[in-house]
Amino acid sequence: MNIQTIMVVGAGQMGSGIAQVAAASGLQVLLHDTSPEFLKRGMLSIDKQLSRSVEKGKLTQDGMKEILRRIQPTEFIELAEQADLVIEAISENMALKVLLFHRLDGICPPHTIIATNTSSLPISEIAAVTGRPARVIGMHFMNPVPVMPLVEVIRGLETSQEVFEVVCGLSERLGKIPVEVNDFPGFVSNRILMPMINEAVFTVYEGVASVESVDKVMKLGMNHPMGPLELADFIGLDTCLSIMEILYEGFKDSKYRPCPLLRKYVKAGRLGRKSGQGFYTYS
Ligand code: CAA
Repeated sequence: MNIQTIMVVGAGQMGSGIAQVAAASGLQVLLHDTSPEFLKRGMLSIDKQLSRSVEKGKLTQDGMKEILRRIQPTEFIELAEQADLVIEAISENMALKVLLFHRLDGICPPHTIIATNTSSLPISEIAAVTGRPARVIGMHFMNPVPVMPLVEVIRGLETSQEVFEVVCGLSERLGKIPVEVNDFPGFVSNRILMPMINEAVFTVYEGVASVESVDKVMKLGMNHPMGPLELADFIGLDTCLSIMEILYEGFKDSKYRPCPLLRKYVKAGRLGRKSGQGFYTYS
């Protein structure tokens, strides 16, 4: 199967990153979101990243224009009928994902593969609301998408071998390294990463150390590029909390209990970089 046109649903941090990488690899990209403002923000972020590459001499102006020309922002999800592959990158909300997959299943031609960039929700359950569970798969990119080489590829119970191979091949075409993991809450990446972040929040909550000290320990002592609290702000505290909830709910094990401080920050609207404040303040 030759993938030529993809639709990315959701023009947020992950969706715009996926659209950028796909267009840079020569694919035609439809970038869908529900409002013109979201689309504008997504396109601006792509423009900013590409402009940085031009400034650094890693991309020519013409190359940048070519990439941008390959991305068509659209409010009309009906254009998914043109896509060989749809990658859903909306928020981590099962009810919304289920509605969207049902809708996409009605719009897309039978050959279209529908992938989800979910970071922790069950693929088999999402696939079950479509009439094509063999063509539904998890394709979990890491943030920032243009930089991080990993794509976790997760088969649902019914996902076909052909679809698995097409998605692995496409990930490689995007310059990524696909790693197959099984359909369990949080897969591998977030099952390991999020409890570490949650534990870092607990160390602050219990007064073991300051935010800065916790991050310094992990950066200087473990060579992590970002401390866990800086990383939590980068990912979004709401996303971290919702993944912890999914782990807690999925395994029913108290070791995944979200730290009350994380919950408190999210309730107060301190969501990290995107809201200007999380464990750190951003201007
Ligand atoms: N988008 C695109 N490119 C970016 C970027 C962004 N948001 N941020 C940085 N970059 C690029 C820079 O342009 C630079 O590129 P060049 O090498 O071509 O010049 C490169 O990344 C390095 O950037 P910087 O020198 O500015 O900064 P850095 O060396 O501190 O690296 C970082 C920044 C890559 C983000 C690094 O801090 C890092 O790897 N952090 C950890 C990120 C991580 O763990 N991601 C996974 C999050 S979990 C997840 O995504 C899964 C989930 O489901 C929640």
